[in-house]
Amino acid sequence: MATVVRSWRVAEYLLGVCLSMAFMANASHGHSSGGSSDSAVPTSANAPLRGFEKTIIVHGIMSTVAFLLVLPAGIYLARFTRTFNNKWYTGHWIIQGVLGGLTVVIGVGLGFLADNQVPEERESPHKDIGKVILFLYFAQCALGAFIHFVKIRFRWGRPPQNYFHAILGLLIVGLSVYQIWLGFAREWPGATGRPNLSSAYTIAWLTWSIALVVLYAGGLTLLPRQWRQERTSKNSNASTNASALPTQYAPVHLDDQAWQYRESIELKGH
Ligand code: HEM
Ligand code: HEM
Repeated sequence: MATVVRSWRVAEYLLGVCLSMAFMANASHGHSSGGSSDSAVPTSANAPLRGFEKTIIVHGIMSTVAFLLVLPAGIYLARFTRTFNNKWYTGHWIIQGVLGGLTVVIGVGLGFLADNQVPEERESPHKDIGKVILFLYFAQCALGAFIHFVKIRFRWGRPPQNYFHAILGLLIVGLSVYQIWLGFAREWPGATGRPNLSSAYTIAWLTWSIALVVLYAGGLTLLPRQWRQERTSKNSNASTNASALPTQYAPVHLDDQAWQYRESIELKGH
């Protein structure tokens, strides 16, 4: 009997410790209540904006600028100009890595801040997907840099990592399109208790998303030209004294180094 009572006291003590830890974690997180409910107090559409709502708005705008404007701009720059000049790569990494980095970090960072300020603690797909997108963005930058700096010769044409980078890039933007819809259509009313936003937001979002797809599809018509250039470049490479080649050169994407080489070959009349 004494053992049972002692075990109960220990269990009671441990439960108490857990509850106080959960309470402290919750308090430091800035939320007023625990759980994963979606119970924001209903608020009228024209009530003045509260502090956390302003954070959410800036988060929404910055994230949309990052993922629907800046990153697509870097992608289109590559798609539309890579077969015409040798500067596309410089523009691509500056837009994607520097401009994209700034807007992504500020935009998504404000999402975490907003989450900290929102009075009700909520769980949502938007929050989970947001973290995945952030991770994929950094992975994509690392992969892009890897492709550029580590030229791996691949005997069957373009190396898989080049395809992977392009596909992952499109996937990130595609996922962000959905994430942005979740943001304004689900998170905003869920976190603020305000009514759904007007359908103008959905129309603008849909129009822009369709335009992004149509524009990229248009750019894909340049693929045959790109493959022809890459074949020419590769053949010239094969028929030239290997010791004369830049050591790290692999004709997989025509960035600055590859273009210089291609031009030098053309000047030599190959
Ligand atoms: C691709 C664009 C976006 C990304 C990557 C993104 C990412 C995130 C992340 C990472 C969080 C915090 C998650 C956490 O603390 O666990 C968050 C919170 C939030 N986001 Fe976004 N977001 C995006 C666009 C938007 C848009 C357009 C809106 C519309 C207003 C929005 C509304 C919200 C709201 C209301 C929260 C706070 C949710 C809460 O704590 O209850 N987001 N977002
Ligand atoms: C500093 C960061 C980055 C670097 C150094 C980089 C580098 C590169 C390189 C070397 C290529 C040529 C690959 C090839 O097709 O052979 C490329 C293409 C591409 N990159 Fe990036 N990249 C970066 C960030 C990003 C990001 C963040 C995205 C999108 C979220 C992205 C999307 C793409 C796409 C879609 C292509 C293929 C374009 C096309 O030809 O249609 N990149 N990038």
